[in-house]
Amino acid sequence: MISLGPLLLESPFILAPMAGITDSPFRRMMKRRKAAMVVSELISATGVHYTCKHTLEMFDFHTEEHPVGIQLFGADCDYLCKAAQHAEEKGADFIDLNLGCSVPKVVKKGGGAALACNIDKLAHILSSLVKAVHIPVSIKIRTGWDETRRNAIDIVKLAADAGIAWVAVHGRTSVQAYTGVADWDFIKEIKDKSPLPIIGNGDITTAEKAMQRLKESGVDAVMIGRACAHNPFIFEQSFHLWQGESYSPSMQDYLKLLQEHRVCIEEEYTPGRALVFSKKFLCGYTSGFSGSRKFRDDAFHTEDMDLLWKNAFEFFESRSWENR
Ligand SMILES: Cc1cc2nc3c(=O)[nH]c(=O)nc-3n(C[C@H](O)[C@H](O)[C@H](O)COP(=O)(O)O)c2cc1C
Repeated sequence: MISLGPLLLESPFILAPMAGITDSPFRRMMKRRKAAMVVSELISATGVHYTCKHTLEMFDFHTEEHPVGIQLFGADCDYLCKAAQHAEEKGADFIDLNLGCSVPKVVKKGGGAALACNIDKLAHILSSLVKAVHIPVSIKIRTGWDETRRNAIDIVKLAADAGIAWVAVHGRTSVQAYTGVADWDFIKEIKDKSPLPIIGNGDITTAEKAMQRLKESGVDAVMIGRACAHNPFIFEQSFHLWQGESYSPSMQDYLKLLQEHRVCIEEEYTPGRALVFSKKFLCGYTSGFSGSRKFRDDAFHTEDMDLLWKNAFEFFESRSWENR
């Protein structure tokens, strides 16, 4: 076990929030496969204020997801506090404030990465959020807005003063978006100077890399995003490596994952949306294996849920981990 602020986690490997990917079914798949903690994708505090049905549905999670956080974005302190209280009432274990998203529709309204540039406003929002709920409040930041304004160390200090429980840092600037590489030397520097627990994030593609980043940077935990959509066993592999063992998934493990994921998707969504999500996840799971391109092309053209999943089962029945 490791401690992260007031939470006790089974391991230091955490699922990163990803809009359109980390829905409840996928979070459950990763939790069952050893992600120590999960968090929702970013949810608009303004949407909560206006009781937007779709926004409110995003607060739903299953018991097995604990410890689970709700990630909020916005720039209005009252809206954010009310949304945080709503998440607490729903049983979330923590609130995470998004300070790293740089998509125009978020930044133009002063939320996400834009809020991380507005230090006075941010200080007020963070201390108000901490007072508004009884559960821990964390933040997720980037290293700064751009190369000339890498203010992550200042933000961490400000967060500590406001009573924030931990900080997750994606090692790129907002302007970089996903270009270049995550700067783990800077993440290490942030950790060295931080009074708060730090979660490092960016470009962890294998269990070996997760262990290396954890050890070399000294961060309290690492967060894994894109890689788990392609290798859904990365948390399990990281967990085993952390325990001094190794683990390669068998094709039976893949077939079990497919069975479970289909059930969860069909429970969660209408048939139309279930098909869209199924295609997205199956294309992710098959990528990296030989024949994945044909699978993707076929999936793109099918509107038949049973056929799509049948193809996926047949795909993994005739593959092995070594084929990747
Ligand atoms: C499709 C996608 C959606 C994302 N959505 C969010 C989000 O909702 N909230 C957030 O804080 N970060 C979001 N991120 C950023 C990830 O959490 C993470 O910081 C980033 O992908 C770097 O980690 P990785 O290299 O392990 O993927 C998203 C990333 C991707 C690729």
